[in-house]
Amino acid sequence: MVLRPAANRIRIRIRIRIRIRIRIRIRIRIRIRPRPAGQMRSSPCPGHDHEEVTPMARQSAATTPYNTGMLGNDSPRERERLKSIQTSVDAFTTGVVDGLPIEASWNCLELGAGAGSIAYWLAGRCPDGRVVAVDLDTRHLDAGQAANLEIQEADITCEDYAPGSFDLIHARYLYCHLPARDATVERAARWLAPGGWLVIEEPYHLPAGTSPFPAVQRVLAAYQRMYREHGADMTWARSLPARLARSGLSEVSFTGNLGCMGGLDKDRWRPVIAQAAPALLAEGLVTEADLSEFSGLLDDPAFIDIPQVTVSAWGRRPSHLPDGSARAGRG
Ligand SMILES: C[S@@+](CC[C@H](N)C(=O)[O-])C[C@H]1O[C@@H](n2cnc3c(N)ncnc32)[C@H](O)[C@@H]1O
Repeated sequence: MVLRPAANRIRIRIRIRIRIRIRIRIRIRIRIRPRPAGQMRSSPCPGHDHEEVTPMARQSAATTPYNTGMLGNDSPRERERLKSIQTSVDAFTTGVVDGLPIEASWNCLELGAGAGSIAYWLAGRCPDGRVVAVDLDTRHLDAGQAANLEIQEADITCEDYAPGSFDLIHARYLYCHLPARDATVERAARWLAPGGWLVIEEPYHLPAGTSPFPAVQRVLAAYQRMYREHGADMTWARSLPARLARSGLSEVSFTGNLGCMGGLDKDRWRPVIAQAAPALLAEGLVTEADLSEFSGLLDDPAFIDIPQVTVSAWGRRPSHLPDGSARAGRG
């Protein structure tokens, strides 16, 4: 029989104590996990063990530009990029949403809220309702913008809401980045109250090689390739109206907005390419000379190009069952 020295026994006891303390900390973290107004609940992540793949699903990449680090708020230029999106497309988006029969009492969900402009606008349009703004990273969102605004930090591919929770769900430039994007549209459709609307706006990138500017061809081809390699799909927008219709929504409609590269103060691409430039250079997809030529074009008042179209599509969860009887809820 080997007797352990007293010092070893003390060490063993100390280790046991430390392990007990770690268990307690884990329990506390589970308890303080944010639960919004009783509606968000955990769900298995589509794309992992619970993906609902339908015949229309075209891609189910496990990677996204937001989990590979290509995009994200740790980039010092992310806020500038989010602001440039808002400046260039907010008027288009608010025009689309204003075309719906929006009511002051609506409960709204803004998915992938970014720097928050649409969530703040919705909070103003629905003063008697509530707006939930959810994003992977909420550092650019300000809950103080409105009393009826709730900010949630969550990955929407892994979180769920109770069916029938919202009168309006809006997302812009989000789904192109998600894995299992088709399945995530179907889940969002289920979160709608009867008669509620789902509005999704996504970019469709025009082929880089069709630009009349060789520098744009090179820079955009590199940019599009990097997005693709990080799991994004910048052509998925084309399937959006059909996806809404196949998710059980009615009154499906769509429109488009042409993006502007150049045109001096109308340009939205300088911050986009500036943010991507270090990665594009590191991966050898562009040269400093390409970027400098591109920057020179942006300074030229006669330079204008159309790199993408934003497809905005919307549909409504039917208020009535197929037999004509009304469901509970708003219609
Ligand atoms: C291109 S930005 C668009 C921001 C905003 N919708 C707009 O158009 O101004 C995409 C946003 O989606 C968020 N996002 C990406 N993946 C997400 C996920 N799985 N769950 C929640 N938010 C996500 C990002 O953090 C980012 O703020």
